[in-house]
Amino acid sequence: MHTKEVKEILSILRSSHGKKPVDLLLMGGKLVNVYTGEILEGYSVAIKGKWIVRVDKDLEWMAGPKTEFLDLKGKYIIPGLIDGHAHILAYCHPHEILKYAVKRGVTSVITELLDISFKTDVDGMITYLKATKGEPVKVFATVPPFITLCEGAKRKIPDFKAIVRLLKLDAVVGIGEAFWQEVLRGHEIFFKLVPYAFKMRKTLEGHSAGCKGEKLQDYVLTGVSSCHEPITYDEVLERLRLGLYVMIREGSVRSDVNCLLGLSGSNLDTRRIVLVSDFMSPEDILDKGYMDYVVNRAIEKGINPVVAIQMATLNPATHFGLDGKIGGISPGRYADIVVTPEIKKIDPEIVISNGKIVVRDGYLYSQGNKKSLQIQGLKLRKVTPEDFLIKTAKRGKVKVRLIQQVTELVTKEIIEEVYPIDGEIRADPKNDIAQISYITDDGCYNYLVRGTGIKFGACATSSVWETYGILAIGIEPRDMAKAVNRILEMGGGMVIVEKECIVEELPLPIGSLISNLSYEEVVKRIGILNEKAKKMGIRWEKPLLSLETFTTPAIPFFRISDRGLVDLKTGQVMGLFVD
Ligand SMILES: [Fe+2]
Repeated sequence: MHTKEVKEILSILRSSHGKKPVDLLLMGGKLVNVYTGEILEGYSVAIKGKWIVRVDKDLEWMAGPKTEFLDLKGKYIIPGLIDGHAHILAYCHPHEILKYAVKRGVTSVITELLDISFKTDVDGMITYLKATKGEPVKVFATVPPFITLCEGAKRKIPDFKAIVRLLKLDAVVGIGEAFWQEVLRGHEIFFKLVPYAFKMRKTLEGHSAGCKGEKLQDYVLTGVSSCHEPITYDEVLERLRLGLYVMIREGSVRSDVNCLLGLSGSNLDTRRIVLVSDFMSPEDILDKGYMDYVVNRAIEKGINPVVAIQMATLNPATHFGLDGKIGGISPGRYADIVVTPEIKKIDPEIVISNGKIVVRDGYLYSQGNKKSLQIQGLKLRKVTPEDFLIKTAKRGKVKVRLIQQVTELVTKEIIEEVYPIDGEIRADPKNDIAQISYITDDGCYNYLVRGTGIKFGACATSSVWETYGILAIGIEPRDMAKAVNRILEMGGGMVIVEKECIVEELPLPIGSLISNLSYEEVVKRIGILNEKAKKMGIRWEKPLLSLETFTTPAIPFFRISDRGLVDLKTGQVMGLFVD
C-alpha cells in the first residue's frame, strides 16, 4: 500500500462510525465469501472512495444524501475476477483490450512481459506498463527470464541491472514463465534473478510442460512456485503434491479444463488451483468472454461454483501476495466487485472497479484513458526473393530435416529425401511441404515444414514468440519476400500475399506486436487473415497464431532459430541438410 493510500484509509477511519457517509452501498445480495466458501444471504457492502469499508447485514446507517444505492436482492456479489497468467500485450493497445476485459468481470490481470521482451528494451516495457494506468483493470506483470533459442535475440537482452530495475517496480509481481528444460540446464539470468525474487518477495513462475518425476522435483528445487502447463489430472495432482500453484488454462491457445474432471469426489484441497487464460485473443473475448467464460467452463466440468470463483479470485491473489488488496470482499480491499444474477453461470451484470460502477447491463461507463503508446517497431533491411532460396550443390536425392506439424502447436523432426530443382530445394505443395523462414538483422533462415496444408501464397508475422524478427510460411519465394517487406514498411504486422499481391494485412507498429487500430478493427482483420490463410489450404484453426510459435522453446518438440533447427528435448541444434 502506498503512503497516499494509507492516508486515505486513515481519513476513512477518522470519519467513520456514521459521521461521514459512504459513496456506494450494495444492498442485501448473496455475498460469495471466498475466504470461507460461504454464500451469505442478505449481505451488504459499503464502499468509500476505492475501498471496501464494511461487509455486513444492514449497512443503511452508513448512507447519506449523496450515497448511491444498488438493491441487489436475489443477486450474487462476487469479487472482481483475476487472470493469473495472461499475455495481454499481443495485438491491441491495453486500453482497447482492458475495456473488453472489464465487461467480462475482470478487474485484475497478471500479464507476462515476455511477448515484447526481445522486441524492445526495459524502457519499452515500462512504457507499456505506464500505458495500462488509469484503466478499470489493474495490470500486474512478470519480468521474463529471457529464454530464447535465437542468438540474435540474446544480443537484445538488457543488462542485468536494467532487469532488476524492472523487477523492483510495484506492478511487477514475479519472474515470468521459465521453461523447465532451460532452467535445469542452468539458465544464467534465471539463477541470477532467483535471490532478488526471494528478497523482494516476488514469485518465480514456472513452465513445466511434460516434466515429471525426478526432473519435476529438480525443477521445484529451484524455487519455482507455479506451473500453468498441466494438461491431465495426473499432472495437476503431481504438481499440487509438490506444493506448486497449479494454473489450469482455458484460453485461445490451450483448453485444459478437462483436467478438473478428476477433482469430482476427490476431496482434494483446491486452494492452490488457479484458473487462467494464458492468452485470450481479442476475437475470443468478443465471442466467448474472458475469465467469466473460464470460470463457467470450470463449473460445467462439475466444479462447485464458489470453488471455481475462488480459483479465479482469492487463489491467484494469494499466490502473488496480493490477497490483502484484491481477490476477496472485505474491508481494506479495493472495491473490485462483480454482480451476477446467477452463480452457476457467471454473467457480469454490474462490474465495480476501484469503487466505481464501470459496467452495467453490458454498457461500459468508464472509458478509461487511452494513453499514447510509442515503442519502436521493427527495423530490418529489406529482403529479396533470392534471400528465400535454399541452394544446394548436391545432385540427385538429398536428405533433409523437416519439421513435421503434429498438431496446430506441436512439431517433431522427420528426415525426408527430396530432389533439388536447378540447384535449389523448393517447397512441394503436392507432398504438403512448405517453406518456413525466419528473418532477422542477420539474414533469412530457411527451413521446410510438412503437414500445414498450404498450397499457394505466403503468410508472415512479426508477432513471433520468444524472439524478434519475422516468421513467414509459403510456397513461392517472391510471395514470401513481398509479405516480409510489407511488414517492414509498417514497422511490424501480419500480412497475407497471393500471386505477389497483398490480400490482407494488420499493422502492428508498436514494438512490432501491437496495433494502433481499434479492438473491433483488429478482431475483424485477424478474422480475415485467418480466413484467407485457410483458403490457401492451411489446416490450423488459427493460422497466424500457429505460425507465431515456430520459434518458441515453450512447445515441444522441434523449432527453428537463427542457429538451425532445435530439438527441445536435447537442446541439440541441427542443419536443414542431413550429412
Ligand atoms: Fe504463458
